[in-house]
Amino acid sequence: MISKRLKEISKYTKGYNLLLDVGSDHGLLPIYAINNDYVKDAIASDINYKPLIKAKENFTKYNLDIKTIVFDGIPETDADIIAICGMGAELIIQILEKTLNNAKNLKRLILSPNNDYYILRQYLNNKFNIVWEEVIIDRNHYYEVIVVELGNSNYSDKELYFGPILLKTRTKEFIDKLNKDLSTLKNIVDGITNDNKKIEVKKEIEMIEEVLCQDTL
Ligand SMILES: C[S@@+](CC[C@H](N)C(=O)[O-])C[C@H]1O[C@@H](n2cnc3c(N)ncnc32)[C@H](O)[C@@H]1O
Repeated sequence: MISKRLKEISKYTKGYNLLLDVGSDHGLLPIYAINNDYVKDAIASDINYKPLIKAKENFTKYNLDIKTIVFDGIPETDADIIAICGMGAELIIQILEKTLNNAKNLKRLILSPNNDYYILRQYLNNKFNIVWEEVIIDRNHYYEVIVVELGNSNYSDKELYFGPILLKTRTKEFIDKLNKDLSTLKNIVDGITNDNKKIEVKKEIEMIEEVLCQDTL
């Protein structure tokens, strides 16, 4: 069954023609996007063929003719919307670095790493415009979705750390995530023995407190 996270992510495919889901695993995102008429057609790609066998079984179950491709990264495609979700930020960066050129008709990318959003945004800076961001809470986990278009925005360090759109929208989910991150950092800071790391974590705590404080000013 499709997760709340993937359902929320699928919203960002609405109105596009062809979705490419990179690292599609069991193909749940393309199935949901097509069955809800968000996109006209979809392709599921994955570096491993085994998940795509399962994806094909799922497509047959739903009577959908979705193409599958075994490929490391983004295969050559006419897709106008590409999703790369549920993997590490470093892997997403590698995929974009090595294979983004294979997408000739790309209009938007939907990115949702499992971690290291700051590192991903640092990579995106000056290459993409961040057009939307959202924090999704699913089964007590917090996930950020970053929707981008090619462009050359120049974000501040604060925007890269928190997300330029999230800083503006300040959704309840975003504030909840900040409170959770803050309590995690406060719990670990005293036990950190490396001086540089301790300074870094203290700076993060101050930055988060400053953003949270804006609600009470
Ligand atoms: C945890 S699953 C995520 C599935 C789905 N995208 C989601 O968000 O739930 C990660 C998938 O990415 C695939 N993957 C890992 N590295 C990849 C790469 N370089 N290119 C394409 N797919 C990759 C894995 O085989 C796996 O099926």
